[in-house]
Amino acid sequence: MKKFRRIGVLTSGGDAPGMNAAIRAITRKALEQGVEVMGIIGGYSGLINENIIPLTTGAVSNIITHGGTILYSDRCKEFKTEEGMQKAIATCKKFNIDAIVAIGGDGTFRGATDLTLHGIPAIGVTGTIDNDITATDYTVGFDTAMNTVLEAVDRLRDTCESHARCDVVEVMGRDCGQIALMAGIASGAVAICIPEVPFDEELAIEKIKSAKAAGKRGMIVVVSEGVTAVDENGKTVPYGELLRSRIEDQTGVETKFARLAHVVRGGSPTLRDRLTATKMGVVAVELLLEGKSNRVVIEDNGEITDLDILFALTVDRMYKNKLKEGDLEKFSEADIDEMRKICEKRTEEIDILYKMSYEICK
Ligand code: F6P
Repeated sequence: MKKFRRIGVLTSGGDAPGMNAAIRAITRKALEQGVEVMGIIGGYSGLINENIIPLTTGAVSNIITHGGTILYSDRCKEFKTEEGMQKAIATCKKFNIDAIVAIGGDGTFRGATDLTLHGIPAIGVTGTIDNDITATDYTVGFDTAMNTVLEAVDRLRDTCESHARCDVVEVMGRDCGQIALMAGIASGAVAICIPEVPFDEELAIEKIKSAKAAGKRGMIVVVSEGVTAVDENGKTVPYGELLRSRIEDQTGVETKFARLAHVVRGGSPTLRDRLTATKMGVVAVELLLEGKSNRVVIEDNGEITDLDILFALTVDRMYKNKLKEGDLEKFSEADIDEMRKICEKRTEEIDILYKMSYEICK
């Protein structure tokens, strides 16, 4: 088995609170094992542009409390080209980087698997606020994002209550409604709208009317950014803004719209994110030391473990109905069965919570 002398670590895609905790854990675990660590600045573009710094124990001191990523991030198009990949490989050779740990979401893992195929072993660590990687129960950043939404909504509720208003709050999550669903339930929203489940607008409006009739003053509706609608001009628009005017028109309750946008992505990570990121970072280094690559570190029923990246990317496409022809050909019947079970589990988790929210959120 090849002994790694030096590894690189990078963060890519949307940043997420807890990425710094992962960088710290990867750096310190590797140094403990006698492996040097290089920080790649700006995601995969840092590999292309040779933007690389050495990471020491001191360099990652006091970063565990900070949101964002000290290595910065990027969504690098050039890395997807063969030319970009060749530049990245040349950089790894020039800086004697034997392997890479890439922290991010599905795009990041596609990059990691491409690197492995080109001879640089890579491991992925899940870091995105969206919790939208089907293969894992949890992605680093999700807990902080939910708590940030919760805090913002609690504040909005105070002023809604004073003025007897409704606030439609749009939250990030891309095509995944988990931040909206969980933070919506926890913040006592009257209705929640997510991409995974058809939204009953009439029912939501009826709920607001009866809540108003029962004397409720402040009301919150949480909408995931992934829900869109077609407006009267035939243009696809974010649904939250349309819903705001429909609620106001049909209930007579003055209704405001708040888009939390990137606020949801910042801030000091929660304990959950710091701890999970630390555990995942350590496992990533252990995998490399065991000679494994093309793996992604995941959480499965509370345990930090790992999966083949290609399996993880394929199950993700299966869940999101994005499977391409031939995607499943590389897998055994048992693997495909396993993928279906994971997809069913994700659908069921969301369905159960959503049904619960219908009964509890009033
Ligand atoms: O994937 C994280 C995320 O914050 C999504 O929730 C959101 O849709 C997207 O990234 C926004 O991307 P950008 O920061 O490039 O605008």
